[in-house]
Amino acid sequence: METGCESCFELGILTEKELKSFARTFSQCLAEGDVIILSGEIGSGKTTFVRGLVTGLGCSEEIVTSPTFTLMNVYACSKTVYHLDAYRLNGIEDVFYVLEGEIEDRNGVFVIEWGNLIDSYFIEDVITVFFEHEDEKHRKVRLRVPSKRVSRFRRCLNFGEYKEQ
Ligand SMILES: Nc1ncnc2c1ncn2[C@@H]1O[C@H](COP(=O)(O)OP(=O)(O)O)[C@@H](O)[C@H]1O
Ligand SMILES: [Mg+2]
Repeated sequence: METGCESCFELGILTEKELKSFARTFSQCLAEGDVIILSGEIGSGKTTFVRGLVTGLGCSEEIVTSPTFTLMNVYACSKTVYHLDAYRLNGIEDVFYVLEGEIEDRNGVFVIEWGNLIDSYFIEDVITVFFEHEDEKHRKVRLRVPSKRVSRFRRCLNFGEYKEQ
């Protein structure tokens, strides 16, 4: 990750509350059709991030469950949120198979818990959030945004406060 993260924004070492709060702010920056990959080990906070994200889009966080058995959860918030978990999928081909129509329609936002299965650096045009276990209560969080979307996120997240690597 270190080598593939040249244009990452360092969001810091966050508590669960801070992570959810960041996810809420982040949700306000999203546009229809955005694909967000959440990369990190089990327990690193990917589902927790989705809970924060849906509250930012006007849903209750209780609606979020791990899409382990369902393949994909769909939350009807102010934007439709498609929530997938790559542990049930066999690679990016599967993701695009499951999402076929929706991704082409760019109708909704797509949040994919990816684990560390592949390096999303090689998938064009996705936003990636990296989670690392720091200690029991803290996660190190980084954000990588494709260059053509950086200005939108910098404006929206007020990146001045964050350290850009
Ligand atoms: N700073 C933190 N950020 C996110 N989760 C945290 C944090 N500190 C402790 N946790 C706990 O770690 C677990 C993260 O689980 P989850 O979000 O389901 O991870 P994942 O989806 O990556 O497997 C939750 O039980 C949460 O309460
Ligand atoms: Mg999860």
